[in-house]
Amino acid sequence: MLSWDDEFDAAMGKTATAAPVKPAAPAMGSVASGFAAPAAPASQGLYQQAARSATAPVQKPVAADAAKAGRVNAADKRVINGTTDVNQLVPFKYKWAWEKYLSQCANHWMPQEINMDRDIALWKDPNGLTEDERLIVKRNLGFFVTADSLAANNIVLGTYRHITAPECRQFLLRQAFDEAIHTHAYQYIVESLGIPEAETFNAYNEISCIKAKDDFLLPFIDVLTDPSFKTGTLEADQTLLKSLIAFACVMEGMFFYVGFVQILALGRQNKMIGAAEQFQYILRDESAHCTFGIDLINTVKLENPHLWTPEFKEEIKAMFRKAVELEHAYAVDTMPRGVLGLNSAQFMEYMKFICNRRSNQIGLGTLYEGATNPFPWMSEMMDLKKETNFFERRVTEYQTGGALNWE
Ligand SMILES: [Fe+2]
Ligand SMILES: [Fe+2]
Repeated sequence: MLSWDDEFDAAMGKTATAAPVKPAAPAMGSVASGFAAPAAPASQGLYQQAARSATAPVQKPVAADAAKAGRVNAADKRVINGTTDVNQLVPFKYKWAWEKYLSQCANHWMPQEINMDRDIALWKDPNGLTEDERLIVKRNLGFFVTADSLAANNIVLGTYRHITAPECRQFLLRQAFDEAIHTHAYQYIVESLGIPEAETFNAYNEISCIKAKDDFLLPFIDVLTDPSFKTGTLEADQTLLKSLIAFACVMEGMFFYVGFVQILALGRQNKMIGAAEQFQYILRDESAHCTFGIDLINTVKLENPHLWTPEFKEEIKAMFRKAVELEHAYAVDTMPRGVLGLNSAQFMEYMKFICNRRSNQIGLGTLYEGATNPFPWMSEMMDLKKETNFFERRVTEYQTGGALNWE
């Protein structure tokens, strides 16, 4: 591999007469950081190109051959530990990731486009909401307002650099922006309603059920953001895969759902409809992030079947079961009494139902036999088996400027 010193020497003409050397495959470290080794010094290539034009093309120019040898063959791409140039988006191998990126761009929305006037009036009316309903709003804002920052930091500082497929990186870039929009949306709701900011933004330190969920997630972020963490060994690759599962399946696929149900339940009763509309757009985004993450996980498994050991599968199942407990504890804390036609026992059943869905999506089978969806109205709005149809309908409405209706 060329070093920076080699390139400097070449640029200065010290190696201009040396025979072209077929560039070695870039080292993993250089690919992961995005700085693939140059195929040939630029000055040398230009020099030889000029010389070629002055002579008859009786034979293929060697420098061009050397440069073309650095072109990416789609079949060589890998989602992790790849050695192809991450700066070359095409040729596509992971077209599904590119399609998901395009879909997310088509779903673009901004929080301030949603009118919050009725929410503000309801929140300020002493008789507008019950104390239990206010608790639901405050607790969920307390959880989500920092959760999406955690998600963004996990992508930008952790996951991104370990993924070597540029199509997947393209989606992750969009996903990171989505998470910024979500944090913006929660901040916009907090500001609109005049909810104390310090209390809300510190909820993940001060409210035990929120802290427990974040404490569960943080080790999976910390390991990927550690500068010394590198993939390429069985242990490291399993660590990365486990973190991918923790984020896609547990955080985005389970830890958001009690809050989504609760806020959407308020919206269905014509309460906090601006906040509910924002949550519905966020739910659509999170569902897309979750399905992308699951496709990513399954591709890592497909390309690295040796990672999917019986012991590893048991670890993941234990992680899922713990997540169900944590999310149920969150439901109990946010909703100590039955409200809005919901109760915490239903949420335990609901979490088991969603956990089964995630577990099956990554090939671990059913963890809770017989679990059913206790919220059929949620099924109508975001049936997990009909996510695509539901969101396609919403996308169309959003793109034509139509408001969401609460029936
Ligand atoms: Fe988010
Ligand atoms: Fe997300």
